[in-house]
Amino acid sequence: MSTNIADIRKEYTLKTLNEENVEKNPIDQFGRWFREALDASVNEPNAMHLGTLGRNNVPNGRIVLLKSCDAEGFTFFTNYHSEKGIELTAHPFASLTFFWAELERQVRVQGTISLAGADESDAYFRSRPRPSQIGAWVSDQSRPLRNRRELEERQEELEREFEGKMIERPPYWGGFKVSPFRVEFWQGRPSRLHDRILYTLPEATREWEISRLFP
Ligand SMILES: Cc1cc2nc3c(=O)[nH]c(=O)nc-3n(C[C@H](O)[C@H](O)[C@H](O)COP(=O)(O)O)c2cc1C
Repeated sequence: MSTNIADIRKEYTLKTLNEENVEKNPIDQFGRWFREALDASVNEPNAMHLGTLGRNNVPNGRIVLLKSCDAEGFTFFTNYHSEKGIELTAHPFASLTFFWAELERQVRVQGTISLAGADESDAYFRSRPRPSQIGAWVSDQSRPLRNRRELEERQEELEREFEGKMIERPPYWGGFKVSPFRVEFWQGRPSRLHDRILYTLPEATREWEISRLFP
């Protein structure tokens, strides 16, 4: 590789973030930043890194898509029997990290995990395109697969089976909700002196507190 990775760097100059004009709670602040990400045509603004605690306490990470965010938390959908599903069931805590390069912004969330209600998972499953609904039945997510052909054969078989029928949500597929207790908003600034605003939710008061962190 001819490019020296160590020479790749960028100065962040676009915006600032002040404790005086952030929202009182992080869900509203996230909503504000998310709308700005949409307005700025950020690439896949709802793609987020999901961190879990894996086997032998080894952290594990992957990208998933945020599908809703409200007072209860951040929801994504997946296979409950996947590696992440097993990890989140065993250890119901997660981190979420968004990076919106076009706005020089990062959002980090830590929270507790719960299952989305069956009604919510059903409603979202119904809204998916039919090939994705079939995909949820085809994939034993995170299990070993002999080859691509095996996957395609399962797809063809299930397409035949479901022909002309409504496709129900598989019982092992649905939403997880991350209810935040710590959320940090990061705005890139010049000279690596970034703005970091942290929201924490103390057990005692259950009222969001706002502070600033050294970059
Ligand atoms: C942009 C992007 C979006 C993704 N969205 C999802 C998603 O919403 N749900 C999901 O289960 N996997 C999603 N994936 C795939 C996961 O990253 C991962 O490969 C898969 O869920 C298996 O993870 P696991 O073995 O840790 O369970 C996405 C991957 C990318 C790159």
